[in-house]
Amino acid sequence: MKKLVVNSENPYEITITRDLKIDEYIKTKYGKSKILVITDENLAYIYSEYKNIPHYIINAGESSKDIEVYYKIIKFLSKNNFHRDSILLAFGGGVVGDITGFVASTYLRGIPFVQVPTSLLSMVDSSVGGKTGINTEYGKNLIGSFYNPREVLIDTRYLDTLPEEEFANGLAEVIKTAMIGDRSLVEALMTDQLEDGIENIVEKSLKVKIDIVQKDMRESNLRRILNFGHTIGHGIEKLSDYKIKHGEGVAIGMAMISKAFHKKGLTPKDTLDILVALLEKYSLAKSFEVDKDSLFKAILIDKKTEENYINLVYLENIGMAKIYKAGLDELKDILQIAIDGN
Ligand SMILES: NC(=O)c1ccc[n+]([C@@H]2O[C@H](COP(=O)([O-])OP(=O)(O)OC[C@H]3O[C@@H](n4cnc5c(N)ncnc54)[C@H](O)[C@@H]3O)[C@@H](O)[C@H]2O)c1
Repeated sequence: MKKLVVNSENPYEITITRDLKIDEYIKTKYGKSKILVITDENLAYIYSEYKNIPHYIINAGESSKDIEVYYKIIKFLSKNNFHRDSILLAFGGGVVGDITGFVASTYLRGIPFVQVPTSLLSMVDSSVGGKTGINTEYGKNLIGSFYNPREVLIDTRYLDTLPEEEFANGLAEVIKTAMIGDRSLVEALMTDQLEDGIENIVEKSLKVKIDIVQKDMRESNLRRILNFGHTIGHGIEKLSDYKIKHGEGVAIGMAMISKAFHKKGLTPKDTLDILVALLEKYSLAKSFEVDKDSLFKAILIDKKTEENYINLVYLENIGMAKIYKAGLDELKDILQIAIDGN
């Protein structure tokens, strides 16, 4: 068992283990409180360990990060007299974590919640850092808050049932985290067998994320480096009509932006080579057939500001990411170089 601490406005602990008994843990630690477990239909089908605790099941997938689902949960809490000292427990991937966190941050102006992430992505990324949110028809996470959990409980055993493509999604974020923040994680990914080393990999990834969010909880600057690969990645997800999943988009985005910044003389060859080698080792995509103008448009639809520049994240070295402010004309040139390097 490993413990990490996130020192933010309200510090919280992350436990990484392989034999969490949620029902017993909850009884011992939160037995005096009224608890609601929020989970999705897939997890409810596979796992039954919390079945004796009141629970609320949402549909699996992104469509549940929705105002109607949010409101149904709020009504359920009100109807069943959940109060300020009650606790919500998010048992699931990033979708369950994001909506549960948002409900917790707004119900009665905020009640405590615990994250029990079950996908690799939620273990290494979304359960830590305090971002919560739901989507609207205008875009992802347009309604949300910064709200930290009371604690995060990670049991890597849950990964045994995670579908392969969801594991690959999380792995792309792990590779991103390694490339922007930790050479030793890059080395572990190069050499470790994932089955044996997963706890180590989760822990190292979390340390990078914790370090970044501790310095910049509200994404004013440094936290933006977590978007490495995401600008092009989101554009490609959109252009593929979401047939390309998020992790695959991020993998392609990291490869394309790094090829472009290598050509610009800002990303060294060995850094690009190692990124490409990692993507190959884990069978993640590195390229996508696309034309510059469509990609440019798809990227700008996602842009939330009116400014005429965009922040691109590039690697100055392994474990060292930088932000590059590109004007929109320059962005077009960079995309062309990235596409030519495909
Ligand atoms: N809050 C943040 O900082 C942050 C960061 C990154 C991503 N996100 C959000 O996270 C979401 C994506 O998270 P995700 O990739 O975990 O998606 P998800 O929650 O949709 O989970 C993916 C799929 O895997 C299933 N699943 C999860 N754990 C399982 C397990 N142990 N066994 C079997 N099946 C399991 C789920 O039922 C779902 O079908 C997106 O909405 C994204 O916006 C948030």
